[in-house]
Amino acid sequence: MAAPTPSAGAARTALPDFPWDRLAPYGDRARAHPGGIVDLSIGTPVDPTPAVVRDALVAASDAPGYPQTYGTPALREAVAGWFARRRGVPGLDPDGVLPTIGSKELVAWLPTLLGLGPGDLVVHPEVAYPSYDVGARLAGAAPLPADGTAQVGPAASRVGLVWVNSPSNPTGRVLGVEHLAKVVAWARSIGAVVASDECYAELGWDVEDVPSILDPRVCGGSHDGLLAVYSTSKQSNLAGYRAAFAAGDPVLVRRLLEVRKHAGMMMPWPVQEALRVAVGDDAHVAEQKERYRARREVARAALLGAGFTIDHSEAGLYLWATRGEPCWDTVDRLAARGVLVAPGAFYGAAGAEHVRVALTATDERIAALADRLA
Ligand SMILES: Cc1ncc(COP(=O)(O)O)c(C=O)c1O
Repeated sequence: MAAPTPSAGAARTALPDFPWDRLAPYGDRARAHPGGIVDLSIGTPVDPTPAVVRDALVAASDAPGYPQTYGTPALREAVAGWFARRRGVPGLDPDGVLPTIGSKELVAWLPTLLGLGPGDLVVHPEVAYPSYDVGARLAGAAPLPADGTAQVGPAASRVGLVWVNSPSNPTGRVLGVEHLAKVVAWARSIGAVVASDECYAELGWDVEDVPSILDPRVCGGSHDGLLAVYSTSKQSNLAGYRAAFAAGDPVLVRRLLEVRKHAGMMMPWPVQEALRVAVGDDAHVAEQKERYRARREVARAALLGAGFTIDHSEAGLYLWATRGEPCWDTVDRLAARGVLVAPGAFYGAAGAEHVRVALTATDERIAALADRLA
């Protein structure tokens, strides 16, 4: 009998274990609390999808034909308009807009779509959303956690893609114009693409300015080699629709589009319509932001009162909190009170003494958090 052939995935670097399994026993413990679990471990929205967006989905439900992988021109123009209105990016070329099936999909496949592979490096923040690492591995490239160019050193010539994430998941840190401009200049000097994951940009709390990588102050007015990655999952309670987009360099977008067409990576047309309407309506985003603001104030006061220190967290959907002890001890302590949070170690070794507390719970559950920590 012929020897088994290597699997199609043999060239890629092994994927990490799915870390959430390790949290499951703490979830069981929290669920056993007489008042039920306060689950602040995952950033999944809990408020209703806005009527304006649901109506758009329903109105587009007759969809017998295939949708365009590139998205409709009306959708791409609406996204360009959103960048001008909300992100300080005037004159974005609608040809440089690409709908994606949620942004996690693009994060996980971008290195592959760019043709990166063995020998290439994908730089991502040291404390980071885990899918940047996964995306590098799926392509057979190597992930390189680094927050500064000095950490990359002579390996810079192998870097094909640099991820930045501002506001950060999990830390809530916002990178300023100067920092982002340095990243862009460095990446251009080594011929690497910069992808900037900005999906929490509308949720700024203690900051005046959450600049986009496409902001002229950052990129000097040229979008060459740059992609802003955005999602309406959080700002519009649309995680279930998978409605996101990337935008920036039209040449880069066409490269991605070629592969995506072949691979069938197309956003359903009813979702394209829902997304078009969502990015055109600022009122529901402002309303949702106020819900999170109120929850954040209650959760923040409760954690500070219980002896936590909160680092960064100036924007985004999480509080990055520490008691100066190993994160699993904090997870354990909170699970005993029926509260589940994510251990910072899930996001990199530098997170080993923090926990990530999500604000995606109902007002009632956030009030229960305050009661239990009092
Ligand atoms: C930093 C970051 N990027 C991307 C995503 C993916 O969002 P979605 O796939 O819902 O667009 C998330 C979701 O939590 C995130 O935190």
